[in-house]
Amino acid sequence: MQTVNIGFIGLGTVGCGAIALLRQNRELIERRAGCRLAVRKIAVRHPDKPRPIAVDPALLTSDVREVLEDPHVHIVVEVMGGIDPARQFVMEAIQRGKSVVTCNKELMAKHGSEILDLAKAKGVDVNFEGSVGGGIPIIQPLKQQLVGNRIRRITGIVNGTTNYILTKMTRERRELADVLREAQALGYAEADPTADVDGYDAMYKLCILAAIAFGSRVRVEDVYREGIGGVHARDIEYAQELGYTIKLLAIAQEDDDRLIELRVHPALLPNAHPLAAVSDVFNAIVVEGDGVGRVMFYGRGAGASPTGSAVVGDIVEIARNLCYNAT
Ligand code: HSE
Repeated sequence: MQTVNIGFIGLGTVGCGAIALLRQNRELIERRAGCRLAVRKIAVRHPDKPRPIAVDPALLTSDVREVLEDPHVHIVVEVMGGIDPARQFVMEAIQRGKSVVTCNKELMAKHGSEILDLAKAKGVDVNFEGSVGGGIPIIQPLKQQLVGNRIRRITGIVNGTTNYILTKMTRERRELADVLREAQALGYAEADPTADVDGYDAMYKLCILAAIAFGSRVRVEDVYREGIGGVHARDIEYAQELGYTIKLLAIAQEDDDRLIELRVHPALLPNAHPLAAVSDVFNAIVVEGDGVGRVMFYGRGAGASPTGSAVVGDIVEIARNLCYNAT
């Protein structure tokens, strides 16, 4: 059996989740991939930092060049996040003929076009399933199984933190600041909650979905974005009295003239709508295609294991392409 070598850049929650799953199901994954998958190097800022999984110290390096310049590394998994230097690392990996797996939604939303253009020119793959909806398969289904459809609309709850906060506010009639403090203490919300609470995270994910669904280049600046900062317990109470639930929705739709509208904002959903029942940190995405009608994808939108599952899926798909030329 051929061996496909993987180099990681970053080893946080998602990186650890992916490596743990690769270990846990190694035999099954390699049988399905049709090749061996070997983690060859992991570049991290602090090799000595304690981590939730045990890692052979010989695999760890603080020098990212050991991943990027290793001619035996076939796939680079970028799980460090942020734009700089992640963008340079991803571009360099592609330049060097390596395929890339990333969960970096901000990077793909802002620089996806240049990254995918370069990948096409160099004949390598860039997979980013984990960038939207964590463990929920949504990017591959949009690219493959739903490819025969004209997509009319995508409506998603794609941010777990705000969904958790809104769920708590609804169930316990509490104010946002109060729930947010608790969510931070429990580690559900980031110390700096801006990206989630103000809708940036949902906006990046929406841009990625829209670019695939509508085959266009989408600019984050063109998206209407409003977070949940203006939602009060009283708004939720009134909505409930009228039979509605308040959710932070990410909506992309194309009209008959092919104009695309993208928006992220809190919205009133009738309680009978399937998205109204999506609670806590769960995500769900409803896709409406002219052939398939409405389909809904639901699951865990974040976390080590679910997002690790998406990363492993991306790795295996690339490994199959590398070993069997199955592009
Ligand atoms: N902060 C994100 C969320 C993590 O709350 O959904 C997953 O992208």
